[in-house]
Amino acid sequence: TRKYRVVNNPTVYVGTFIHSPRDDARKLDICEDGAIGVNPDGVIEFVERDVQALDAVLDKYPGYKGADVVRTQPGGTQFFFPGFIDTHIHAPQYPNAGVFGSTTLLDWLNKYTFPTEASFSSLAVARTNYTRCVARTLANGTTTAAYYATIHVPATNLLADICSAAGQRAFVGRMCMDHRGLNPDYYRDETADESVANTCLCIDHIKSIDPSYELVSPIITPRFAPSCTEELLTKLGKLARETNLPCQTHIDENHGEIQLVAELFPEHESYAALYDACGLLMPKTILGHAIHLSNREMELIRDSGAKIAHCPVSNSALTSGGAKVRWLLDCGITVGLGTDVSGGFSVSMLETVRSTALVSRHVAMTDGEHCKLSVEESLYLGTRGGAKVVGLEDKIGGFEVGMEWDAQLIGLEMVRKEEAVEEKAEFAADEVLDKLAFESCREAGPVDVFGWESWEDRVAKWVYNGDDRNTLAVWVKGRKTLFHYPTFIDYDNL
Ligand code: GUN
Ligand code: FE
Repeated sequence: TRKYRVVNNPTVYVGTFIHSPRDDARKLDICEDGAIGVNPDGVIEFVERDVQALDAVLDKYPGYKGADVVRTQPGGTQFFFPGFIDTHIHAPQYPNAGVFGSTTLLDWLNKYTFPTEASFSSLAVARTNYTRCVARTLANGTTTAAYYATIHVPATNLLADICSAAGQRAFVGRMCMDHRGLNPDYYRDETADESVANTCLCIDHIKSIDPSYELVSPIITPRFAPSCTEELLTKLGKLARETNLPCQTHIDENHGEIQLVAELFPEHESYAALYDACGLLMPKTILGHAIHLSNREMELIRDSGAKIAHCPVSNSALTSGGAKVRWLLDCGITVGLGTDVSGGFSVSMLETVRSTALVSRHVAMTDGEHCKLSVEESLYLGTRGGAKVVGLEDKIGGFEVGMEWDAQLIGLEMVRKEEAVEEKAEFAADEVLDKLAFESCREAGPVDVFGWESWEDRVAKWVYNGDDRNTLAVWVKGRKTLFHYPTFIDYDNL
Protein backbone atom coordinates (compact mmCIF):
# COMPACT_ATOMS: atom_id res chain seq x y z
CA THR A 1 0.00 0.00 0.00
CA ARG A 2 0.99 3.63 -0.24
CA LYS A 3 -0.01 4.46 3.30
CA TYR A 4 2.06 7.04 5.06
CA ARG A 5 5.49 5.62 5.75
CA VAL A 6 8.80 7.34 6.20
CA VAL A 7 11.19 5.83 3.68
CA ASN A 8 13.68 8.65 3.47
CA ASN A 9 17.40 8.58 3.26
CA PRO A 10 19.26 10.90 5.59
CA THR A 11 19.05 14.25 3.82
CA VAL A 12 21.05 17.44 4.08
CA TYR A 13 19.28 20.64 3.10
CA VAL A 14 21.79 23.26 2.04
CA GLY A 15 21.50 26.96 1.34
CA THR A 16 19.28 29.73 2.66
CA PHE A 17 16.93 29.14 5.58
CA ILE A 18 14.48 31.66 6.95
CA HIS A 19 12.24 31.17 9.97
CA SER A 20 10.93 33.07 12.99
CA PRO A 21 12.98 32.82 16.15
CA ARG A 22 11.10 30.80 18.77
CA ASP A 23 10.53 33.75 21.11
CA ASP A 24 10.75 36.84 18.95
CA ALA A 25 7.94 37.52 16.52
CA ARG A 26 9.36 40.85 15.43
CA LYS A 27 12.23 39.64 13.31
CA LEU A 28 13.20 36.81 11.02
CA ASP A 29 16.20 34.59 11.51
CA ILE A 30 17.94 34.52 8.13
CA CYS A 31 20.70 32.01 7.52
CA GLU A 32 22.29 32.29 4.08
CA ASP A 33 24.87 29.52 4.18
CA GLY A 34 23.26 26.83 6.26
CA ALA A 35 23.10 23.06 6.30
CA ILE A 36 20.37 21.12 8.08
CA GLY A 37 20.62 17.37 8.53
CA VAL A 38 17.36 15.44 8.65
CA ASN A 39 17.34 11.78 9.66
CA PRO A 40 15.11 9.07 8.12
CA ASP A 41 12.45 9.72 10.79
CA GLY A 42 12.18 13.31 9.58
CA VAL A 43 13.87 14.74 12.67
CA ILE A 44 16.42 17.56 12.39
CA GLU A 45 19.75 16.25 13.74
CA PHE A 46 21.95 19.24 13.06
CA VAL A 47 21.74 22.88 12.09
CA GLU A 48 25.02 24.39 10.88
CA ARG A 49 25.44 28.04 9.95
CA ASP A 50 28.16 29.80 7.90
CA VAL A 51 28.96 26.65 6.02
CA GLN A 52 31.95 27.15 3.71
CA ALA A 53 32.43 23.56 2.62
CA LEU A 54 29.75 20.92 2.92
CA ASP A 55 32.37 18.16 3.18
CA ALA A 56 33.63 19.61 6.45
CA VAL A 57 30.09 19.44 7.84
CA LEU A 58 29.60 15.87 6.65
CA ASP A 59 32.86 14.87 8.34
CA LYS A 60 31.32 16.00 11.62
CA TYR A 61 28.19 13.90 11.09
CA PRO A 62 29.27 10.49 9.78
CA GLY A 63 25.66 9.30 9.44
CA TYR A 64 25.29 11.79 6.60
CA LYS A 65 28.09 10.48 4.37
CA GLY A 66 26.32 9.74 1.10
CA ALA A 67 23.18 11.51 2.27
CA ASP A 68 20.79 13.06 -0.24
CA VAL A 69 21.49 16.75 -0.70
CA VAL A 70 18.82 19.33 -1.53
CA ARG A 71 20.13 22.82 -2.27
CA THR A 72 18.50 26.19 -2.75
CA GLN A 73 19.63 27.74 -6.01
CA PRO A 74 22.35 30.34 -5.56
CA GLY A 75 21.46 33.92 -6.42
CA GLY A 76 19.24 34.89 -3.55
CA THR A 77 15.84 33.89 -4.84
CA GLN A 78 15.21 30.58 -3.09
CA PHE A 79 14.91 29.75 0.58
CA PHE A 80 13.56 27.07 2.89
CA PHE A 81 10.74 28.24 5.14
CA PRO A 82 8.72 26.31 7.75
CA GLY A 83 5.47 24.82 6.49
CA PHE A 84 2.34 26.78 7.33
CA ILE A 85 -0.02 25.64 10.08
CA ASP A 86 -3.68 26.20 9.30
CA THR A 87 -5.36 26.16 12.71
CA HIS A 88 -8.93 26.38 11.40
CA ILE A 89 -10.25 25.02 8.11
CA HIS A 90 -13.49 23.29 7.05
CA ALA A 91 -12.44 20.65 4.51
CA PRO A 92 -16.00 19.91 3.26
CA GLN A 93 -16.55 23.60 2.52
CA TYR A 94 -13.66 23.62 0.03
CA PRO A 95 -15.98 23.34 -3.01
CA ASN A 96 -17.60 26.63 -1.91
CA ALA A 97 -14.35 28.61 -1.70
CA GLY A 98 -15.16 32.04 -3.10
CA VAL A 99 -18.91 31.55 -3.05
CA PHE A 100 -20.53 33.57 -0.28
CA GLY A 101 -22.21 36.52 -1.96
CA SER A 102 -23.26 39.18 0.52
CA THR A 103 -24.25 36.83 3.31
CA THR A 104 -23.25 37.07 6.94
CA LEU A 105 -22.61 34.10 9.21
CA LEU A 106 -26.07 32.77 10.04
CA ASP A 107 -27.64 33.11 6.59
CA TRP A 108 -24.37 31.94 5.03
CA LEU A 109 -24.64 28.71 7.07
CA ASN A 110 -28.19 28.08 5.84
CA LYS A 111 -27.72 29.12 2.25
CA TYR A 112 -24.32 27.60 1.39
CA THR A 113 -22.80 25.60 4.18
CA PHE A 114 -25.35 23.19 5.60
CA PRO A 115 -26.47 21.94 2.15
CA THR A 116 -22.86 21.43 1.03
CA GLU A 117 -21.82 19.63 4.20
CA ALA A 118 -24.95 17.45 4.04
CA SER A 119 -23.85 16.19 0.60
CA PHE A 120 -20.92 14.41 2.28
CA SER A 121 -23.30 11.61 3.17
CA SER A 122 -22.01 10.42 -0.22
CA LEU A 123 -18.53 8.95 -0.04
CA ALA A 124 -18.00 9.73 -3.72
CA VAL A 125 -18.61 13.43 -3.02
CA ALA A 126 -16.30 13.24 -0.01
CA ARG A 127 -13.52 11.57 -1.99
CA THR A 128 -13.47 14.15 -4.78
CA ASN A 129 -13.69 17.16 -2.53
CA TYR A 130 -11.39 16.00 0.25
CA THR A 131 -8.71 14.93 -2.23
CA ARG A 132 -8.85 18.34 -3.87
CA CYS A 133 -8.74 20.10 -0.52
CA VAL A 134 -5.71 18.19 0.77
CA ALA A 135 -3.88 18.51 -2.55
CA ARG A 136 -4.57 22.22 -2.76
CA THR A 137 -3.61 23.02 0.83
CA LEU A 138 -0.36 21.05 0.45
CA ALA A 139 0.41 22.84 -2.80
CA ASN A 140 0.09 26.10 -0.87
CA GLY A 141 2.57 25.01 1.78
CA THR A 142 0.14 23.94 4.51
CA THR A 143 1.99 21.12 6.26
CA THR A 144 -0.43 20.95 9.21
CA ALA A 145 -4.18 21.56 9.18
CA ALA A 146 -6.83 21.46 11.90
CA TYR A 147 -9.83 20.26 9.90
CA TYR A 148 -13.51 20.42 10.71
CA ALA A 149 -15.23 17.64 8.73
CA THR A 150 -18.97 16.83 8.66
CA ILE A 151 -21.29 14.77 10.87
CA HIS A 152 -20.74 11.72 8.64
CA VAL A 153 -18.50 9.00 10.08
CA PRO A 154 -17.41 7.32 6.79
CA ALA A 155 -16.57 10.64 5.10
CA THR A 156 -14.69 11.91 8.15
CA ASN A 157 -12.69 8.69 8.29
CA LEU A 158 -11.91 9.07 4.58
CA LEU A 159 -10.54 12.58 5.22
CA ALA A 160 -8.20 11.10 7.84
CA ASP A 161 -7.15 8.40 5.34
CA ILE A 162 -6.44 10.96 2.63
CA CYS A 163 -4.33 13.13 4.96
CA SER A 164 -2.41 10.06 6.03
CA ALA A 165 -1.86 8.88 2.46
CA ALA A 166 -0.89 12.32 1.18
CA GLY A 167 1.45 12.85 4.13
CA GLN A 168 -0.19 15.95 5.56
CA ARG A 169 -0.11 16.46 9.31
CA ALA A 170 -3.71 16.89 10.35
CA PHE A 171 -6.23 17.12 13.14
CA VAL A 172 -9.51 15.69 11.88
CA GLY A 173 -12.70 16.47 13.74
CA ARG A 174 -16.11 14.95 13.17
CA MET A 175 -18.61 17.83 13.32
CA CYS A 176 -20.94 17.63 16.35
CA MET A 177 -24.30 19.45 16.15
CA ASP A 178 -27.48 18.15 17.81
CA HIS A 179 -29.58 21.28 18.40
CA ARG A 180 -33.00 21.31 16.78
CA GLY A 181 -33.21 25.09 16.51
CA LEU A 182 -30.45 26.33 14.24
CA ASN A 183 -29.49 23.08 12.51
CA PRO A 184 -31.73 21.95 9.66
CA ASP A 185 -33.56 18.64 10.03
CA TYR A 186 -31.66 17.28 7.02
CA TYR A 187 -28.27 17.89 8.62
CA ARG A 188 -27.84 17.28 12.33
CA ASP A 189 -27.17 14.65 14.98
CA GLU A 190 -30.33 13.05 16.37
CA THR A 191 -29.17 13.12 19.98
CA ALA A 192 -26.18 14.16 22.07
CA ASP A 193 -25.39 10.52 22.78
CA GLU A 194 -25.39 9.65 19.07
CA SER A 195 -23.08 12.59 18.40
CA VAL A 196 -20.62 11.42 21.05
CA ALA A 197 -20.81 7.78 19.92
CA ASN A 198 -20.11 8.73 16.30
CA THR A 199 -17.22 10.94 17.41
CA CYS A 200 -15.76 7.92 19.21
CA LEU A 201 -16.04 5.85 16.02
CA CYS A 202 -13.91 8.45 14.23
CA ILE A 203 -11.40 8.47 17.09
CA ASP A 204 -11.16 4.68 16.86
CA HIS A 205 -10.59 4.83 13.11
CA ILE A 206 -7.74 7.32 13.40
CA LYS A 207 -6.24 5.20 16.17
CA SER A 208 -6.33 2.24 13.79
CA ILE A 209 -4.46 4.04 10.98
CA ASP A 210 -2.08 6.12 13.14
CA PRO A 211 -1.92 4.60 16.63
CA SER A 212 0.35 7.22 18.18
CA TYR A 213 -1.18 10.14 16.25
CA GLU A 214 2.19 10.74 14.65
CA LEU A 215 0.69 12.49 11.66
CA VAL A 216 -3.10 12.43 12.03
CA SER A 217 -4.92 13.03 15.30
CA PRO A 218 -8.59 13.22 16.18
CA ILE A 219 -9.95 16.50 17.55
CA ILE A 220 -13.22 16.93 19.46
CA THR A 221 -15.37 19.32 17.43
CA PRO A 222 -18.59 20.88 18.71
CA ARG A 223 -19.60 23.13 15.78
CA PHE A 224 -20.43 26.15 17.97
CA ALA A 225 -22.80 26.85 20.86
CA PRO A 226 -25.95 27.60 18.81
CA SER A 227 -25.62 24.24 17.02
CA CYS A 228 -25.30 22.23 20.23
CA THR A 229 -27.40 21.42 23.28
CA GLU A 230 -25.78 22.06 26.63
CA GLU A 231 -25.91 18.30 27.16
CA LEU A 232 -23.74 17.74 24.07
CA LEU A 233 -21.30 20.53 24.93
CA THR A 234 -20.89 19.04 28.41
CA LYS A 235 -20.43 15.50 27.12
CA LEU A 236 -17.84 16.65 24.58
CA GLY A 237 -15.97 18.61 27.28
CA LYS A 238 -15.88 15.44 29.36
CA LEU A 239 -14.76 13.35 26.37
CA ALA A 240 -11.93 15.76 25.60
CA ARG A 241 -10.70 15.59 29.18
CA GLU A 242 -11.00 11.80 29.41
CA THR A 243 -9.19 11.20 26.13
CA ASN A 244 -6.76 14.13 26.53
CA LEU A 245 -7.58 15.00 22.91
CA PRO A 246 -7.63 18.56 21.59
CA CYS A 247 -10.88 20.38 20.97
CA GLN A 248 -11.96 23.02 18.46
CA THR A 249 -14.98 25.27 18.10
CA HIS A 250 -16.08 28.81 17.17
CA ILE A 251 -16.60 31.77 19.49
CA ASP A 252 -17.77 35.41 19.26
CA GLU A 253 -17.64 35.59 15.47
CA ASN A 254 -20.76 37.60 14.66
CA HIS A 255 -23.16 39.86 16.58
CA GLY A 256 -26.26 37.87 15.55
CA GLU A 257 -24.58 34.67 16.69
CA ILE A 258 -23.67 36.19 20.06
CA GLN A 259 -27.27 37.39 20.49
CA LEU A 260 -28.50 33.88 19.71
CA VAL A 261 -26.19 32.37 22.33
CA ALA A 262 -27.52 34.83 24.92
CA GLU A 263 -31.09 33.78 24.05
CA LEU A 264 -30.40 30.05 23.96
CA PHE A 265 -28.29 29.93 27.12
CA PRO A 266 -29.64 32.76 29.32
CA GLU A 267 -28.29 31.27 32.52
CA HIS A 268 -24.69 31.82 31.34
CA GLU A 269 -23.06 35.19 31.65
CA SER A 270 -21.32 35.02 28.27
CA TYR A 271 -20.39 32.83 25.31
CA ALA A 272 -17.00 32.01 26.88
CA ALA A 273 -18.64 31.39 30.28
CA LEU A 274 -20.93 28.82 28.65
CA TYR A 275 -17.99 26.94 27.12
CA ASP A 276 -16.16 27.15 30.44
CA ALA A 277 -19.14 25.76 32.35
CA CYS A 278 -19.27 22.84 29.89
CA GLY A 279 -15.59 22.05 30.48
CA LEU A 280 -14.58 23.09 26.96
CA LEU A 281 -11.96 25.71 27.82
CA MET A 282 -8.61 23.95 28.18
CA PRO A 283 -5.03 24.45 27.00
CA LYS A 284 -5.77 22.08 24.09
CA THR A 285 -8.82 24.07 22.95
CA ILE A 286 -8.67 26.05 19.69
CA LEU A 287 -11.25 28.83 19.51
CA GLY A 288 -11.96 30.15 16.02
CA HIS A 289 -12.45 33.88 15.39
CA ALA A 290 -12.84 35.45 18.89
CA ILE A 291 -13.60 38.81 17.27
CA HIS A 292 -16.02 40.32 19.78
CA LEU A 293 -14.64 39.07 23.12
CA SER A 294 -15.49 41.10 26.20
CA ASN A 295 -12.70 41.81 28.65
CA ARG A 296 -14.12 39.18 31.01
CA GLU A 297 -14.23 36.60 28.23
CA MET A 298 -10.63 37.36 27.30
CA GLU A 299 -9.65 36.72 30.94
CA LEU A 300 -11.57 33.44 31.07
CA ILE A 301 -9.86 32.26 27.88
CA ARG A 302 -6.42 33.42 28.97
CA ASP A 303 -6.73 31.81 32.40
CA SER A 304 -7.90 28.52 30.88
CA GLY A 305 -4.92 28.41 28.52
CA ALA A 306 -7.20 28.02 25.48
CA LYS A 307 -5.78 29.26 22.16
CA ILE A 308 -7.23 31.39 19.38
CA ALA A 309 -7.34 30.78 15.62
CA HIS A 310 -7.39 34.18 13.91
CA CYS A 311 -9.24 33.99 10.57
CA PRO A 312 -8.82 37.39 8.88
CA VAL A 313 -9.95 36.41 5.37
CA SER A 314 -13.19 34.92 6.66
CA ASN A 315 -13.77 37.76 9.11
CA SER A 316 -13.55 40.21 6.22
CA ALA A 317 -15.52 38.14 3.69
CA LEU A 318 -18.49 37.49 5.99
CA THR A 319 -18.13 41.02 7.43
CA SER A 320 -17.89 39.49 10.88
CA GLY A 321 -15.47 42.12 12.22
CA GLY A 322 -11.80 42.89 12.76
CA ALA A 323 -10.26 40.76 15.50
CA LYS A 324 -8.05 42.70 17.91
CA VAL A 325 -5.00 40.51 17.53
CA ARG A 326 -2.51 42.93 19.11
CA TRP A 327 -4.74 43.13 22.18
CA LEU A 328 -5.01 39.34 22.41
CA LEU A 329 -1.23 38.98 22.13
CA ASP A 330 -0.59 41.75 24.67
CA CYS A 331 -2.97 39.96 27.06
CA GLY A 332 -0.80 36.84 26.78
CA ILE A 333 -3.13 34.71 24.67
CA THR A 334 -1.60 32.34 22.10
CA VAL A 335 -2.76 33.12 18.56
CA GLY A 336 -2.37 31.18 15.30
CA LEU A 337 -3.89 31.69 11.86
CA GLY A 338 -6.69 29.88 10.06
CA THR A 339 -8.01 30.11 6.52
CA ASP A 340 -11.52 29.16 7.72
CA VAL A 341 -12.42 27.92 4.26
CA SER A 342 -15.08 28.64 3.07
CA GLY A 343 -16.02 31.54 5.32
CA GLY A 344 -12.54 32.39 4.08
CA PHE A 345 -12.38 32.25 0.30
CA SER A 346 -8.80 31.01 -0.01
CA VAL A 347 -7.04 27.81 1.07
CA SER A 348 -3.78 29.75 0.99
CA MET A 349 -2.09 30.41 4.31
CA LEU A 350 0.11 32.94 2.50
CA GLU A 351 -3.08 34.85 1.68
CA THR A 352 -4.05 34.51 5.35
CA VAL A 353 -0.67 35.86 6.49
CA ARG A 354 -1.13 38.78 4.08
CA SER A 355 -4.65 39.44 5.37
CA THR A 356 -3.39 39.31 8.94
CA ALA A 357 -1.08 42.21 8.16
CA LEU A 358 -3.73 44.05 6.17
CA VAL A 359 -6.66 43.62 8.58
CA SER A 360 -4.42 44.74 11.44
CA ARG A 361 -3.96 47.98 9.50
CA HIS A 362 -7.73 48.45 9.38
CA VAL A 363 -7.89 47.84 13.12
CA ALA A 364 -5.05 50.36 13.51
CA MET A 365 -7.11 53.02 11.73
CA THR A 366 -9.57 52.99 14.64
CA ASP A 367 -7.58 51.60 17.57
CA GLY A 368 -4.10 53.04 17.01
CA GLU A 369 -0.81 52.45 15.24
CA HIS A 370 0.40 49.84 17.73
CA CYS A 371 -2.24 47.45 16.35
CA LYS A 372 -0.33 47.02 13.09
CA LEU A 373 1.19 43.57 12.63
CA SER A 374 4.34 43.43 10.52
CA VAL A 375 5.15 40.87 7.84
CA GLU A 376 7.47 39.21 10.36
CA GLU A 377 4.80 39.01 13.05
CA SER A 378 2.19 37.73 10.62
CA LEU A 379 4.56 34.98 9.44
CA TYR A 380 5.33 34.12 13.06
CA LEU A 381 1.60 33.64 13.70
CA GLY A 382 1.30 31.38 10.63
CA THR A 383 4.18 29.14 11.76
CA ARG A 384 5.38 29.35 15.39
CA GLY A 385 2.02 30.70 16.61
CA GLY A 386 0.10 27.94 14.86
CA ALA A 387 2.48 25.32 16.28
CA LYS A 388 1.69 26.53 19.81
CA VAL A 389 -2.03 26.56 19.04
CA VAL A 390 -2.00 22.89 18.03
CA GLY A 391 0.37 21.96 20.87
CA LEU A 392 3.29 21.04 18.61
CA GLU A 393 5.66 23.93 19.30
CA ASP A 394 8.46 21.51 20.15
CA LYS A 395 8.05 19.68 16.85
CA ILE A 396 7.13 22.12 14.10
CA GLY A 397 7.07 25.82 13.18
CA GLY A 398 10.82 26.37 12.97
CA PHE A 399 14.17 24.79 12.18
CA GLU A 400 15.86 23.57 15.36
CA VAL A 401 17.65 20.38 16.35
CA GLY A 402 15.08 17.86 17.57
CA MET A 403 12.23 19.40 15.58
CA GLU A 404 10.73 17.73 12.52
CA TRP A 405 11.33 18.78 8.91
CA ASP A 406 7.99 20.35 7.96
CA ALA A 407 9.16 22.79 5.34
CA GLN A 408 8.56 24.43 2.00
CA LEU A 409 11.04 25.51 -0.63
CA ILE A 410 10.17 29.02 -1.80
CA GLY A 411 11.37 30.35 -5.14
CA LEU A 412 11.07 33.90 -6.41
CA GLU A 413 11.91 35.05 -9.92
CA MET A 414 15.06 37.11 -10.51
CA VAL A 415 14.98 39.64 -13.33
CA ARG A 416 18.39 39.16 -14.96
CA LYS A 417 18.86 42.35 -16.85
CA GLU A 418 22.54 42.46 -17.77
CA GLU A 419 22.83 38.80 -18.69
CA ALA A 420 19.83 39.02 -20.90
CA VAL A 421 21.15 41.99 -22.77
CA GLU A 422 24.57 40.45 -23.24
CA GLU A 423 23.16 37.19 -24.47
CA LYS A 424 21.13 38.80 -27.19
CA ALA A 425 23.41 41.71 -27.97
CA GLU A 426 22.41 41.74 -31.61
CA PHE A 427 19.01 43.11 -30.59
CA ALA A 428 18.41 46.53 -29.27
CA ALA A 429 18.56 46.27 -25.49
CA ASP A 430 15.12 47.72 -24.94
CA GLU A 431 13.56 45.31 -27.34
CA VAL A 432 15.15 42.30 -25.63
CA LEU A 433 14.15 43.47 -22.20
CA ASP A 434 10.57 44.02 -23.23
CA LYS A 435 10.38 40.62 -24.85
CA LEU A 436 11.88 38.95 -21.79
CA ALA A 437 9.61 40.85 -19.47
CA PHE A 438 6.56 39.57 -21.27
CA GLU A 439 7.91 36.04 -21.45
CA SER A 440 8.78 35.86 -17.79
CA CYS A 441 5.50 37.42 -16.74
CA ARG A 442 3.72 34.66 -18.56
CA GLU A 443 5.90 31.80 -17.37
CA ALA A 444 7.21 32.72 -13.97
CA GLY A 445 5.55 33.20 -10.63
CA PRO A 446 4.07 36.47 -9.50
CA VAL A 447 7.09 37.87 -7.63
CA ASP A 448 9.93 39.71 -9.39
CA VAL A 449 13.24 40.27 -7.61
CA PHE A 450 15.50 42.93 -9.14
CA GLY A 451 18.57 42.30 -7.05
CA TRP A 452 18.60 45.35 -4.77
CA GLU A 453 16.29 43.81 -2.19
CA SER A 454 17.36 42.71 1.27
CA TRP A 455 16.15 39.29 2.41
CA GLU A 456 13.49 41.07 4.47
CA ASP A 457 12.33 42.88 1.31
CA ARG A 458 12.22 39.60 -0.62
CA VAL A 459 10.14 37.96 2.09
CA ALA A 460 7.77 40.96 2.12
CA LYS A 461 7.41 40.70 -1.66
CA TRP A 462 6.58 37.01 -1.25
CA VAL A 463 4.00 37.70 1.46
CA TYR A 464 2.26 40.51 -0.41
CA ASN A 465 2.52 39.18 -3.99
CA GLY A 466 3.28 35.47 -3.84
CA ASP A 467 1.10 32.44 -4.38
CA ASP A 468 1.45 28.67 -4.77
CA ARG A 469 3.63 29.12 -7.87
CA ASN A 470 6.34 30.18 -5.42
CA THR A 471 5.99 27.00 -3.36
CA LEU A 472 8.33 24.68 -5.24
CA ALA A 473 8.33 21.73 -2.86
CA VAL A 474 6.75 20.75 0.45
CA TRP A 475 7.98 18.27 3.08
CA VAL A 476 6.20 16.91 6.13
CA LYS A 477 8.21 15.00 8.73
CA GLY A 478 11.03 14.77 6.22
CA ARG A 479 8.87 13.25 3.53
CA LYS A 480 8.40 15.16 0.29
CA THR A 481 4.68 15.37 -0.34
CA LEU A 482 3.14 14.77 -3.72
CA PHE A 483 0.31 17.12 -4.25
CA HIS A 484 -0.75 16.62 -7.81
CA TYR A 485 -4.25 15.26 -8.01
CA PRO A 486 -5.32 12.56 -8.67
CA THR A 487 -2.46 10.12 -9.05
CA PHE A 488 -1.01 10.09 -5.59
CA ILE A 489 -3.58 8.23 -3.53
CA ASP A 490 -4.25 4.55 -3.92
CA TYR A 491 -7.87 4.50 -2.80
CA ASP A 492 -8.20 0.74 -3.04
CA ASN A 493 -5.55 0.35 -0.37
CA LEU A 494 -6.54 3.06 2.09
N1 GUN B 1 -19.88 28.92 13.02
C1 GUN B 1 -20.52 27.74 13.00
N2 GUN B 1 -20.21 27.03 11.93
C2 GUN B 1 -19.34 27.76 11.24
C3 GUN B 1 -18.63 27.55 10.01
O1 GUN B 1 -18.77 26.52 9.35
N3 GUN B 1 -17.80 28.53 9.62
C4 GUN B 1 -17.64 29.67 10.34
N4 GUN B 1 -16.81 30.60 9.89
N5 GUN B 1 -18.30 29.91 11.47
C5 GUN B 1 -19.13 28.96 11.91
FE1 FE C 1 -15.01 28.15 10.89
